[in-house]
Amino acid sequence: MSGRVALVTGGARGIGAGIAERLRRDGWTVVVADLFGPVVCDVSDENAVEGLVAGLDRIDALVCNAGLTFRKKLSDTTLAEWSAVLSVNLTGTFLLARAAETKLRAAKGAIVTIASTRAHMSEPGSEAYAASKGGLLALTHALAVSLAPDVRVNCISPGWIHTNGPAPTPEDHAFHPAGRVGTAADIGALASFLIGPDAGFVTGAEFVADGGVTRKMIYPE
Ligand SMILES: NC(=O)c1ccc[n+]([C@@H]2O[C@H](COP(=O)([O-])OP(=O)(O)OC[C@H]3O[C@@H](n4cnc5c(N)ncnc54)[C@H](O)[C@@H]3O)[C@@H](O)[C@H]2O)c1
Repeated sequence: MSGRVALVTGGARGIGAGIAERLRRDGWTVVVADLFGPVVCDVSDENAVEGLVAGLDRIDALVCNAGLTFRKKLSDTTLAEWSAVLSVNLTGTFLLARAAETKLRAAKGAIVTIASTRAHMSEPGSEAYAASKGGLLALTHALAVSLAPDVRVNCISPGWIHTNGPAPTPEDHAFHPAGRVGTAADIGALASFLIGPDAGFVTGAEFVADGGVTRKMIYPE
């Protein structure tokens, strides 16, 4: 991947940092854009995104990872909160893909979007987040068709990925059919595969990385 440039949003910490670390290890030149960090960019700001992309000589891969987590009772969720979640999680990916189209096409590149298993399953109070992540699934296949055959576009839907906060308990790990909670490195490995040469026949697809939880049937005891 020498000389190839990957732009990773929201890479200052958490899953994005794990993705950036893995891509660097695989030889990519990684540009991390975040609200905080060396390259500052709010992905929901159209001018900021255009400026970020214009400042890069080439873009071979775009990993749209920046996202806001949000959970609040439906009746308490304001329009401003709803709009903020949609702006960062969904519109940000649209803005990035649109701005980077020419460079990605020139590079015969790839995009990875980061959705969530919450695009498929919900707890109470997750309307804005779930809608933003469900929208990303649809945006992913729309982009895959629009940017074909030059640019492949795929989506990763992580489940529980431990990045900060209290360590998962043994029960938390055991709940997962894979036997453990996920790590940022798990998502980094998948993202690296999807933007790399071995995924040349894969586009428009969603990859659920959740340790099997969305395949586990749960009934009351
Ligand atoms: N951690 C999980 O279990 C999990 C599960 C499913 C999906 N996800 C998704 O993975 C992505 C990363 O999650 P995380 O757990 O690492 O979150 P995090 O909050 O630890 O990190 C998110 C990063 O995005 C940055 N960011 C936030 N808003 C931004 C904006 N407007 N512009 C640029 N950068 C911005 C933050 O500064 C931060 O560095 C998110 O899209 C999240 O929805 C996470």
